[in-house]
Amino acid sequence: MKKIITVVGARPQFVKASAVSRALKAFPELSEIIVHTGQHYDPNMSDVFFREMDIPRPAYNLEVHGAGHGAMTGRMLEKTEEVLVSEKPDLVMVYGDTNTTLAGALAARKLNIPVAHVEAGLRSFRMTMPEEVNRILTDRISDLLFCPTDQAMNNLNKEGYGHYPCQIHKTGDVMYDSALFFSELAEQTSTILKDLHLDKPFVLCTIHRQENTDNLQHLNSLIETLNEINRNIAVLLPLHPRTRKIIHQHGIQPEFQPIEPVGYLDMLRLLKSCSLVLTDSGGMQKEAYFFGKYCLTLREETEWTELVENGYNLLAGTQRETIISGFHQLLGKPFSDSHRLYGNGKAGSTIAGILSGFLTRG
Ligand code: UD1
Repeated sequence: MKKIITVVGARPQFVKASAVSRALKAFPELSEIIVHTGQHYDPNMSDVFFREMDIPRPAYNLEVHGAGHGAMTGRMLEKTEEVLVSEKPDLVMVYGDTNTTLAGALAARKLNIPVAHVEAGLRSFRMTMPEEVNRILTDRISDLLFCPTDQAMNNLNKEGYGHYPCQIHKTGDVMYDSALFFSELAEQTSTILKDLHLDKPFVLCTIHRQENTDNLQHLNSLIETLNEINRNIAVLLPLHPRTRKIIHQHGIQPEFQPIEPVGYLDMLRLLKSCSLVLTDSGGMQKEAYFFGKYCLTLREETEWTELVENGYNLLAGTQRETIISGFHQLLGKPFSDSHRLYGNGKAGSTIAGILSGFLTRG
């Protein structure tokens, strides 16, 4: 039996890990232990995902959160190392680009435990983003790199990864697996539309990126622009705790009522029912596409460039003019998709199969 330790900690990682955890069950020679770093800890940012998505309970919760980037990553590194030393896994799996991702990968690398990185090869080419630093460093110390897209493969290729002693696989996107798998259940069980009395068209918005929340000019411009849009069509903004804190601190007053962060099934229901998505989240850009919605990205660049190239996503930045012009361009525009940009919904099984081969045949 080969032991895999999966290190997760932030909301999008629960969605991603659920697809691989489910697929790993088909491989009796592999066992999985989940370590939660504690980066996200509010019940509606963490517990609800484990419950709804039937993810195995974490065997360890390191309870690290709320510090600066260095302190947070450092504490996670130290505590993950302790777990790895006592559990002696055959491989460590990490997801995405958060501080949790880097800490998990680095702890394993320093102990010479093989590292597998799901969502490898993504780049924003903006080193001021903490996520860009995390993903570049994680890719470089990983043994197995699972790329969701051609663009991710190209990025690694350009960076000379062909010369490094690692395996690179294009697998499709595990978030697409999750969206397909849970879509029906969301339809049947989520009561969010009724609970929020959402019987009229609405746009779905999320804002949490540091470059938007920690820059008051950006944040003010975003909220004022959303106020303007809200006079046209209702804006629904499930608010990340980071954004909520900053809005409160600075007395910024949205004209609409932001709601608490929602669970995965409710989010899928909202994505299916909304008229347009406005977001600075990476995951939501893809989820909009999965459910046939256009997306205005509230950033200057995106890692998911294929969405922009194919016209599903407009990079709107944070300025009123570009957002309003994008809004008028995309609202009500018929959506058709023939591209299948993120695979066939079986990325988790592909990854589990490769892990089995790597661990049992070497
Ligand atoms: C992190 C990731 C980001 C990812 C996002 C998903 C890094 C560098 N960033 O950003 O890539 O897109 O998660 O949501 O890892 N907080 C709470 N309750 C929670 C979680 C956070 O109050 O459950 C507070 C924290 O204490 C902190 C702030 O929100 O003050 C930000 O949390 P943090 O994990 O540092 O970064 P995110 O913005 O969530």
